[in-house]
Amino acid sequence: MKTLFSCGLSQGAEPWWSDAVIYEIYLRSFADSDGDGIGDLAGVNDHLDHLVELGVDAIWLTPFFPSPGYDHGYDVSDFTAVDPVFGNAASFESIIQSAHSHDIRVLVDVVPNHTSNQHPWFLASLDRHPNNVYRDYYLWRDPAADGGPPNNWRSNFGGSAWTLDAESGQYYHHSYLPEQPDLNWRNEHVYDEWVRILKFWLRKGVDGFRIDVAHNLVKHAEFPDNPPAKNSGTEDNLPVGRVREARGLERLYDIDQDEVIEIYRRLRAELPTTSAGESPFLLGETVLESPERVARYIASGRLDSAMWFGTQSMHFDADDLANAIEVAMRPTGGRLAWFLSNHDRSRPASRLGGQSERGADRALATAAVILTMPGPYLLYQGEELGAMDLEVYAADSKDPIAVRAGETDMARDRARAPMPWADVPGRGFSSNPSWLPHGPLPPAGSVAAQQRNVDSHLHRWRRLIATWGRYRPGLPREVAITTNGPVLSVRRGTLHVIGNFGKEPMSIADHVERAAVVIWRSLPSDAANLSPEHVRAEEVVWLYCNEQENGQ
Ligand code: GLC
Repeated sequence: MKTLFSCGLSQGAEPWWSDAVIYEIYLRSFADSDGDGIGDLAGVNDHLDHLVELGVDAIWLTPFFPSPGYDHGYDVSDFTAVDPVFGNAASFESIIQSAHSHDIRVLVDVVPNHTSNQHPWFLASLDRHPNNVYRDYYLWRDPAADGGPPNNWRSNFGGSAWTLDAESGQYYHHSYLPEQPDLNWRNEHVYDEWVRILKFWLRKGVDGFRIDVAHNLVKHAEFPDNPPAKNSGTEDNLPVGRVREARGLERLYDIDQDEVIEIYRRLRAELPTTSAGESPFLLGETVLESPERVARYIASGRLDSAMWFGTQSMHFDADDLANAIEVAMRPTGGRLAWFLSNHDRSRPASRLGGQSERGADRALATAAVILTMPGPYLLYQGEELGAMDLEVYAADSKDPIAVRAGETDMARDRARAPMPWADVPGRGFSSNPSWLPHGPLPPAGSVAAQQRNVDSHLHRWRRLIATWGRYRPGLPREVAITTNGPVLSVRRGTLHVIGNFGKEPMSIADHVERAAVVIWRSLPSDAANLSPEHVRAEEVVWLYCNEQENGQ
C-alpha cells in the first residue's frame, strides 16, 4: 500500500504550531503544591523543568477557572478568574512568564458551549421576565405537549438533555450535566461576551486556546428530534446504559450545525495578536466521526487546527494505522491535531497492548509515526512515561459518568490518575491523599526513576522530540506512507520513519541503510553487528518496537 498526501499549508510559511508537540496538563492530576490532594498552578511551575527537558513547544492547561466542580472544571462559574483551588492570578502569570522564558507557549482551555449553573449569567437567566436579557443567553424552551422535554435530545452524560425549571415552567438545554447549561450562541450578546473573555486571556499573555467541544456551540434553530442512529438497535449494538443511550441517536440537530463555522470565522478575524505579535492559535475539540466534517472547521480563516479522534479506535497494526492516517489526511490536509490520549480517553499503553510493558513500547512506536504527520501532536501527561490506565473501584470513581450515570466502565477516571513523580509514598504528587487513587506505576517507573535510566521510556520520548525538533524545519507538507506486512514506512522529504508493528524483530539492514537515531528498548539479537555507519546520516529516524524481547 502506498499513499501520497499533499497538504494545505504552503511551504516556508508554517506557523509555530504546524509540527509542534503540545503537552496537555490535566491540572488536577499534575502536581499538588499545597497538600490538598489536587494539582494546582504552582505545581506546574515547580515541574516546568520536566517539560523543558522533554522538549515540548507548548502546554495546554485544562480549565483552572472558578467552578463548582461537577465536571471537574468544565462547569465554569467565572471565565476570567482563577479558582483558589488551583492558585491565583499571580500563579497563572508566573506560569506564563516561566514558560515563555523557555520558549514554551501557553494554551488555555476555554469552555464556550456551556457554563456552570452557578454562573451569574445562568442565575440571572432564571427570571422569565420579558425584559431580562440573560434569559436568552441560554436555551429555554416550553415543555412538549405532554409536559415532557421539548425534544428527544440526550445528554452526553446520560438522560434527557433538558431539565425543567419548575419555577418558570420551562426546560433548559444541557449537552452535558444539568449543572452545565448550554449557552445560546445565536444570541449576539453571548458572542460579544466571549470576545471579551478571549481578549482578557490574550492580554494576560496566552498564546492560544483549546476550544472545548467546538462542534457543539450552535443547535438547529427549530430543535427537531434527532433520528435514531442508523446502526442503533441491532443486536450487538444495543444502546445500553444512560451514557451509551446518547449514541443511539444520530446527532443531526444538536451538534455540528453549519452556523458554528461562521462563529470561528468571525472570531479569527476579530481577535488581536498575542503579546508575541502572533495570531492566537485556535485549536478546536471536534468530536466528529467524519474527517470531512472536521475539515470545515479548519478551512482557511477559521480554526487553525482541530482534534482528530480517529486514532482512538485503531489497533497496533501497520495497515490499520496507515488507513487511520489516510482517511483523516485526505480532506484535512495537514492541519489536524493528532493525539493518542487525553484526559477523557483510555491511555494508549493500555489500549494498544494491555496493561503490560508491551503497551508502552507500542504506544511510543505509534506516537513516533503520528508525530511526523503534518499538524501538531498533543502529548497527554503521563504518556511520556508509558503510564497505563487507572482501574478505579466504583466507590473511588469521581467522573460524573460513573458517579451520576453509574457507568463505571465508561468513566474517564482511568486517564486521570495523579502523575507519579517519585518513588515515595504519595508518588511525589501530593503530601496528602490525592483526589483520585494512584494508577499502576509505569513499567519503567516514576519520573525520578526514569530520569536515572537513559534507556527509559521517558528518555526515549526525549530523544524522539529532540530528533523531531532537528528534522522538522523545512519539511515538505507531503507525506508518503507505505506498508509492507507489519512494517510501516513514512517518508516526508528527507525524513524516513520506519515502524515495526509486527511480533518479530527485524534487521535494520533490511530496511534502512543509515539511521540518525535509533529508538528501541534493547537491540534485537539479529542487529548485534550493527555498524556505526548505520546510525550516521541525518535523514532517517528508525523506530523499533522490539516485542520479542519483551516476552512475546
Ligand atoms: C470536553 C472535555 C471533557 C468535558 C466535556 C464537557 O469533552 O474534554 O472533559 O467533560 O468537554 O465540557
